Amino acid sequence: MIRKILLADDEVTFRKTFAKVLVEEGMSVKEVGNGTDALDAVTKERFAVAILDIRMPGADGIKVLREIMRIRPETRVIMITAYGTVEMAVEAVKLGACDYVMKPVVMDDVLTKIRKNLRYLELQEENKQLKQELSGRFDIGQIVGQSSAMQKVLEMIRKVAPTKSNVLITGKSGTGKELVARAIHSLGSQNGSRFVAVNCSAIPESLLESELFGHKKGSFTSAFQDKKGLFECARGGTLFLDEIGYMPMSCQVKLLRAVEHRQIIPVGSTVPIDIDLRLIAATNKDLAKEIKAVRFREDLYYRMNVVGIHLPPLRERKEDIPLLVEHFIGKYNAEMGKHCVGVSDDVMRLLMSYDWKGNIREMQNVIERAVIFSEDEVIRMSDIGLLGCHVVSLSEENENLQLAVRAYEREHICRVLNKYDWNKVEAAKALNIGLSSLYRKIDELDIDSQKRKRESKGTAVA
Ligand SMILES: Nc1ncnc2c1ncn2[C@@H]1O[C@H](COP(=O)(O)OP(=O)(O)OP(=O)(O)O)[C@@H](O)[C@H]1O
Ligand SMILES: [Mg+2]
Repeated sequence: MIRKILLADDEVTFRKTFAKVLVEEGMSVKEVGNGTDALDAVTKERFAVAILDIRMPGADGIKVLREIMRIRPETRVIMITAYGTVEMAVEAVKLGACDYVMKPVVMDDVLTKIRKNLRYLELQEENKQLKQELSGRFDIGQIVGQSSAMQKVLEMIRKVAPTKSNVLITGKSGTGKELVARAIHSLGSQNGSRFVAVNCSAIPESLLESELFGHKKGSFTSAFQDKKGLFECARGGTLFLDEIGYMPMSCQVKLLRAVEHRQIIPVGSTVPIDIDLRLIAATNKDLAKEIKAVRFREDLYYRMNVVGIHLPPLRERKEDIPLLVEHFIGKYNAEMGKHCVGVSDDVMRLLMSYDWKGNIREMQNVIERAVIFSEDEVIRMSDIGLLGCHVVSLSEENENLQLAVRAYEREHICRVLNKYDWNKVEAAKALNIGLSSLYRKIDELDIDSQKRKRESKGTAVA
């Protein structure tokens, strides 16, 4: 969460003293001495709180406030008002400022107001997280799969859920790792407590440790108050360490300690805190390789991999495809008020022969698009024909070489046209054919009509 404060006031001595107090409080402050610089700062950066003097050269505080409300309405704005500008301060509150303080400013008052607003932002964030968790609740029936591989996975989930053992879920992108983690949580004794997910690859190394374990006020420049880490937030529940393979070595050491001793030490503290939660990690990396390359600690791997669940890629469990298709058609029928009953035989053959590099997530997207485009109860080739993917179909009609080549040619030209936004000159260049040849192909292969058909449904050719 951003916690930077913008302080805009043209009175240099006051501004410097005020900024010093804020920094001493552990806050990170950007000072500006006029309205123009304030406008510049808010366009470039996000601030948690902006403190604006009403009278400033360049642009006055009201103008800056209006701009903040337009581009970053989540910012908490406190106006500084002097004798003669109180009415303007009231006006500012109407425009979206949260509060105002009178000059001469009493430091304690303004600090209380700033802290109150920072707390407000923190609560807002927590609230958002809780809502996301609630909307994400589900039962194990959401994991679809009849293949023996998936049946084994379901059995492992049922067995491991009631325990507190650490679980490591492996599998390529889109194979359902997070879904499995949530299933373990919701079937286990942690259900009812929080499921906290953290993507280790998305947080910069410098922040990851404090995100996970928390920090004490003043332990680094922007640590202006104590902060609980995700381990503490997930107490009694589940902490899901997603993409653990990307965790920097420095953090792995601390994680190992936490896993071994079931204790964490916040950054800047010496007092360990006991933690009682379930740990689940996931990775799409081959950790054996990472260990060999000294990018992942072997001891941490063994600690996490008490129970290992591997999700095979979809192309290795093709018998699940018909069930998944049915599942996703049902899902999108319900969401879109459609009445698709299934896919035509040639579409099913295509879906069975495709190699699904993006696994279930990719299939979900394909079915979602097909449900949007389908005009009758059955999803046909034309509803998914232009997936923008390299289709290797073995439908009966495509066994005929000429037809297969024609289908491929059509699809390839469409992809290139899409890439160049249907700029035919550019597309012809990329295809290395003349413009008139491209026009002829568009005509022969009936490509334009496909484009029109899709655009009339509100979406460009995918
Ligand atoms: N067996 C399944 N049955 C039904 N839906 C599934 C199944 N597996 C995955 N999904 C759905 O596919 C999508 C991707 O799954 P998920 O996010 O769990 O994958 P992931 O392995 O965590 O992917 P990534 O590595 O890209 O984060 C989700 O919408 C999920 O609900
Ligand atoms: Mg995931």
